[in-house]
Amino acid sequence: MTSRQPVLHTPRLTLEPLSLQHEAEHALASGSAADAARDTGAAEVQWREHGFGSWAIRDRHDASLLGVAELRFAGEGIEGIAPDEVEAGWWVTERRRNEGIATEAMRVALADVWSRTGTGLVTAYIAPGNPRSERVAAKLGFVVRGPGVGRSGEPMTVYELSRRA
Ligand SMILES: CC(C)(COP(=O)(O)OP(=O)(O)OC[C@H]1O[C@@H](n2cnc3c(N)ncnc32)[C@H](O)[C@@H]1OP(=O)(O)O)[C@@H](O)C(=O)NCCC(=O)NCCS
Repeated sequence: MTSRQPVLHTPRLTLEPLSLQHEAEHALASGSAADAARDTGAAEVQWREHGFGSWAIRDRHDASLLGVAELRFAGEGIEGIAPDEVEAGWWVTERRRNEGIATEAMRVALADVWSRTGTGLVTAYIAPGNPRSERVAAKLGFVVRGPGVGRSGEPMTVYELSRRA
């Protein structure tokens, strides 16, 4: 990470470019050391190569890591999302869900993508039976693009959000 990389703020949250420096905190917050290693490593490459990427969400009050606002090029393997499309995702540590954190964090992360990149459209995919995530997508203004298939062959619904929305 270089000092020129952005930091975003909301009244409750600070967002920092996700990097390997967040691996231990990610593992604590997500409960998965494997996810933490995979996601922080991939995010660091995404930021370095493209100048935007996933954000570590931090509580401004106690500085704890609360989750990740994910943004990246989708890459190969998702039916319904092209490899060169930007894909969003979100997760929040279990004890802090339903406080509006995912929505608040993604709003500023998306505003940053619109303002700093030429991206005109962001996609997301949600597996069936995840009403909380569907609600976050709806609150952010995502609309259904259609059915898709995830990297492991799982059925899911593809969403998209246009810059104009
Ligand atoms: C999905 C997730 C990121 C949401 O984070 P969050 O910070 O709790 O999200 P928000 O508080 O901004 O919004 C959650 C919304 O879901 C609603 N909700 C909660 N439980 C629900 C349920 N069983 N059915 C329908 N809606 C529900 C909440 O009321 C809230 O909507 P509201 O603001 O209209 O009241 C979080 O639940 C999570 O990390 N889940 C596990 C990982 C995951 O599924 N990630 C998404 C993968 S696509």
